Amino acid sequence: MADKLIIFDTTLRDGEQSPGATMTKEEKLRIAKQLEKLRVDVIEAGFAASSNGDFEAVKAIADAVTESTVCSLSRANDRDIARAAEALKGAKSSRIHTFIATSALHMEQKLRMTPEQVFEQARLAVRYARNHTDNVEFSPEDGSRSDLDFLCRILEAVIAEGATTINIADTVGYGVPELFGNLVRTLRERVPNSDKAVWSVHCHNDLGMAVANSLAGVTIGGARQVECTINGLGERAGNTSLEEVVMAVKTRRDYFDLDVGVDTTQIVPASKLVSSITGFPVQPNKAVVGANAFAHASGIHQDGVLKNRDTYEIMRAEDVGWMANKIVLGKLSGRNAFKQRLQELGITLDSEQDVNQAFQRFKDLADRKAEIFDEDIHALVSEQTAHQEVDEHYQLVSMAQSSETGERPHARITFTVDGSETSSQSEGNGPVDATFKAIEAKVASGAELMLYSVNAITTGTESQGEVTVRLAKGGRVVNGVGADPDIVVASAKAYLSALNRLQSNVLRVDPQRGGV
Ligand code: KIV
Ligand code: ZN
Repeated sequence: MADKLIIFDTTLRDGEQSPGATMTKEEKLRIAKQLEKLRVDVIEAGFAASSNGDFEAVKAIADAVTESTVCSLSRANDRDIARAAEALKGAKSSRIHTFIATSALHMEQKLRMTPEQVFEQARLAVRYARNHTDNVEFSPEDGSRSDLDFLCRILEAVIAEGATTINIADTVGYGVPELFGNLVRTLRERVPNSDKAVWSVHCHNDLGMAVANSLAGVTIGGARQVECTINGLGERAGNTSLEEVVMAVKTRRDYFDLDVGVDTTQIVPASKLVSSITGFPVQPNKAVVGANAFAHASGIHQDGVLKNRDTYEIMRAEDVGWMANKIVLGKLSGRNAFKQRLQELGITLDSEQDVNQAFQRFKDLADRKAEIFDEDIHALVSEQTAHQEVDEHYQLVSMAQSSETGERPHARITFTVDGSETSSQSEGNGPVDATFKAIEAKVASGAELMLYSVNAITTGTESQGEVTVRLAKGGRVVNGVGADPDIVVASAKAYLSALNRLQSNVLRVDPQRGGV
């Protein structure tokens, strides 16, 4: 019988550490429900001790998810671990994931601790975590740059204390497939009690090798858990892409000879949901989930595919969920049909009043757009909940712009500032530029625009445009997302939403930067 490869999804924790990818509790819950539908084995729901918001999100996910194990990250200290345990209390199956840096560089420069102190802290942390649950994962952070003898010692000790999963982290994406695979294999060979734990890999993508390194950890090293994220979201250049690992192992089962429990038809819906909620677009040529992943443009390829799909297709688009894009509702759909679709999508709104509000948004949209898809529903719920969870200093009331060949584009906008209406206008290079300048003429935020991107939520020109605006100010980076069939309106909504997020002072501890 083939071994099972455990898929540990960390979109909601490592993915959320991408600058600007912070999610609200409701957004995290929606993604967690989709991950459960995708049948990932473990969902790392967050880092409970990092903020009250993250604690509440981990707790809500632990209470709602029954088919996947729910995990919380915690640094190697009693307070973090107790907080993780508390948040996970309601879970049917839970895991505490504790970590501490083990490379000389991180121990000396970041933690300012001696190797002996780190060794002791790791041991005590795992012992303490085992008082709360028998499912404990330990990660040596920056493991791939750590001294081998020290790693062996510390891993033997934490396994002896009861760690059930050992996760080798390539924190800065320094690994090279063969070397990283060999590292995992050597550790498994040299740690005397290595057979008492499942070995796992966690690779970052700084050199574009996260998936290759993870798979080498599996084939050469014998790891049986891969940590990964939807769309490869994660710190800096991102993490290992879940869809690529899963489809590689499934498509090349002849080589990997491993079972994966994931329902691959839920991959594309998961990818779209994560992209829409975080505002991180998926590049068109991204493997598996990019818009072009199954598009055959060249005549030779088209001809081949028409004669026999296997000529140029190694996977089926429908097997990864590309056909899931269905018209689900329209102008005549009633409140019950809308409510039922929310349920089917795993969306739980807090009150009947919230459902009524969402239904009204749906009706407004259906008046302007004949066909409403699941993605449209997700977008309107995202907008509504973002409005509820972040204080809305700024709210769009109305706007108009003009652009004509040979004329300089002009925008006029009315929005509320803490409830009072204000209007402003400006010229710009284009209607979007004019709109942003008109907003800034009143707000003077001092924020720097880091990213502006527009995506069609579904397909065709009738689709809603979904705009992401990323703003940076004083070391904080936030994303605002706005959707509307009119992309200039979507742009204004996204800009105001980003300004609202900049105003909300969410304080979080960053696991990779905070000390123990
Ligand atoms: O990259 C990393 O080292 C991590 C650990 C917390 C596992 O994310
Ligand atoms: Zn990481």
